[in-house]
Amino acid sequence: MQRHACNYLFDFEPIVGRIAFLETEHSFEWYDEASKTMEEMRSRTDATLMPMAEEIAARRAKDASSAAPADTASIEPFLASCIRAHDPWAGVALRLRQTLDRGLPATNAFAKMYEICSAVEEVKAVLSRHGTTLTPLKAAFLAELPALFPIAVIYYLGNFFPAFLQHNLFDYCGTSLPDGLTDQFSLVGENGSKWHFMDHTSSSDTRKLIAELGGGKFDFVTGDIGKEVVNLWTKEREMFREELGQMVAALALLKDGGLAVLKMFTVREYSTACLLRLAIGLFDKVRIIKPFTSRIYNEETYWILSGFKKPLFDPMLEPLLALMDTATAVLSSVTLPGSGGRTPIPFYRGFLSPANFDQDFIERMRRIFFADLTRRMRCAEVGMAEFEQQYDLILSMATSKEKIDPYAFQVEIMKRLSRLMDEHAEKWREMFPISQLGSIFYRVTGIPRPSVTGRGRRETRRPSP
Ligand SMILES: C[S@@+](CC[C@H](N)C(=O)[O-])C[C@H]1O[C@@H](n2cnc3c(N)ncnc32)[C@H](O)[C@@H]1O
Repeated sequence: MQRHACNYLFDFEPIVGRIAFLETEHSFEWYDEASKTMEEMRSRTDATLMPMAEEIAARRAKDASSAAPADTASIEPFLASCIRAHDPWAGVALRLRQTLDRGLPATNAFAKMYEICSAVEEVKAVLSRHGTTLTPLKAAFLAELPALFPIAVIYYLGNFFPAFLQHNLFDYCGTSLPDGLTDQFSLVGENGSKWHFMDHTSSSDTRKLIAELGGGKFDFVTGDIGKEVVNLWTKEREMFREELGQMVAALALLKDGGLAVLKMFTVREYSTACLLRLAIGLFDKVRIIKPFTSRIYNEETYWILSGFKKPLFDPMLEPLLALMDTATAVLSSVTLPGSGGRTPIPFYRGFLSPANFDQDFIERMRRIFFADLTRRMRCAEVGMAEFEQQYDLILSMATSKEKIDPYAFQVEIMKRLSRLMDEHAEKWREMFPISQLGSIFYRVTGIPRPSVTGRGRRETRRPSP
């Protein structure tokens, strides 16, 4: 049974030519078609938001007796809530929190990684091999705060290979930005020596990390990098340096034959396609999946990279670090929906020659891209219908003096859909069996065990939505 919302597999194919930014810009033949479809999608969203934005502007103008421009920014979060509320898997994390170990910060990220461990055959194979033979597993979790991925791996191992955890065979460390997300669940506070604070876009930080941890020593590396972007429609461009840096660090840390699971966003631009091609040239298999509990509307997917070919990678480390240093953006003009003209947006040129991209690869990328976009468009349609239905309520919330949390509004819609959420949560638990771990969970994670009254040694905050 296919266990994921999407599942694409690429086999190893060696890279030809050197690694360095190209002098000229390249794109794929379907790039314009993709851009046009994305613009249409944005225009449809704007058409839903604009009447309300105009109504708000008119009300403001009346109050201030001067004309105010219609701006969709303040109501966009409500549309996002309408879209997210209709994700049938969105209730899984909440229901896990109600039944698993108390204090377990079961968020969506926890469910995603548990799903990946339980059902992605390459990941399951590595964990089972270590779990059954009781050989130590060394893992690194990159760009990892508030740190649910290591907790989910610990949880999976504890559920299926308790003796492995009892013998302390899981050795892990993690990285995060110094001023990134907070240590919400005190995992870092309780295990400070395991954490390295760094910027994955910096080659000097990456060199320091490799020196501290030792290159080529890890069986399993994950990377879950993400940041707020300035413009959703150019997210892929804005994420390139983070994705490149995350991949370089992951490759440098992995053992020969090792396994990596990296979050990556859309692959439409030539520069990001080079990252995918690089992975295909360095691993036996590259699988792209989207777990059910990865939010249905966002562009994230997980690249499952198995069977690392370290001897092929070693000569590439320096050119890749140099690439991080020379990653200077080139400006190109694109038409951004609603901008009324062409806007200069920074982008990065590719770093592998076009000889690496045969027709079959290009066609597969095209299919993956459009399958992903179609899913997102369908979700947007459902969300827009909900937005129209809730028009009056949203308008009153958006114009109210009190600050309304669009998440509270989302929860209200989700309550109406709770039967659907319950059914999906039940289905999820059938597909990915999971039970409480008890004391070993608190011992291995260091998370304070809540007392009967619900308080731990230190109060742990409830996970954010
Ligand atoms: C989606 S969150 C990771 C969530 C995590 N996997 C979990 O389960 O709790 C993305 C993380 O990437 C980190 N990040 C973003 N840009 C980074 C950078 N340049 N270097 C290092 N970490 C970065 C953020 O601080 C954040 O902790």
